[in-house]
Amino acid sequence: MTAPRALLAAGTARLTAAGVATPRVDTELLLAHVLGVDRSRLLLADDPGPDARAAFDAALTRREHRDPLQHIIGVAWFRHIEVAVGPGVFVPRPETELLVDAVLPVLHARAAPVAVDLCSGSGALALAIADEAPSARVVAVERPGPAAEWLLRNLAGTAVEAQLADVIDPGLLAELRGSVDAVVCNPPYVPADVEVAPEVRFDPDVAVFAGPDGLAVIPHAIDRAAELLRAGGVLALEHDDTHGKAVPALLAADARWTAISAHRDLTGRPRYAVATRT
Ligand SMILES: C[S@@+](CC[C@H](N)C(=O)[O-])C[C@H]1O[C@@H](n2cnc3c(N)ncnc32)[C@H](O)[C@@H]1O
Repeated sequence: MTAPRALLAAGTARLTAAGVATPRVDTELLLAHVLGVDRSRLLLADDPGPDARAAFDAALTRREHRDPLQHIIGVAWFRHIEVAVGPGVFVPRPETELLVDAVLPVLHARAAPVAVDLCSGSGALALAIADEAPSARVVAVERPGPAAEWLLRNLAGTAVEAQLADVIDPGLLAELRGSVDAVVCNPPYVPADVEVAPEVRFDPDVAVFAGPDGLAVIPHAIDRAAELLRAGGVLALEHDDTHGKAVPALLAADARWTAISAHRDLTGRPRYAVATRT
């Protein structure tokens, strides 16, 4: 067995024993990170020296302790972009990528569209929208704090604008009222007493939990979106899988919304709602 192949086998066994859900993929990504090679070229890599072996062992130990893979390698991939992540910021999840698809049509239909990402965290949604709708002005809103530091770092050198503010603030982005074409929002939404996976404990509580029913932030996000969007503008709002009825019902009870639809994620769970501003 070649050295990389043996390291991958041993690493996969360690992560399997630790209960990691995707042990082989994680081991490959950790070794690729340590060796500085693309994952697809791992088996062609030279025999790692002692320093690389020690670094790989340390990375595996962190993953055995269920540090998120993305914290260890320092980046998360999201659609066609990557963002820097680590302690203090929520690691973007694949299911959130679907929100981008929901708003691209309304953005592509305009020459100079405006999009707002509420509860932006690392800026993954805002940056993905800027990447896929390059003519759009994109504003990322995140409350001041550690996540905002990551946001500013990820937005540096891009045209995406940061607004460090609270979505509860009724004066948020007052200058954009009634002129925004799309709002995306992946807010905190997990009910406070829900047991979460070990990796989720590395996400900031403020990014994950939202009161006893998980709905402490969503009604505010809906209000801000309704104020910001022009008639015909589109909101895509992620929610907990237990909110598949509650969130569409909140929108349906509000005359500011029409064409409300409920959507599932790639695992079939209720995950986000889309609505058009009347
Ligand atoms: C689930 S994370 C989503 C981050 C990012 N949009 C993503 O999908 O990866 C929710 C984010 O909302 C932020 N947040 C929580 N409450 C907020 C509030 N009242 N105003 C603004 N941001 C808030 C958290 O700090 C966190 O970054």
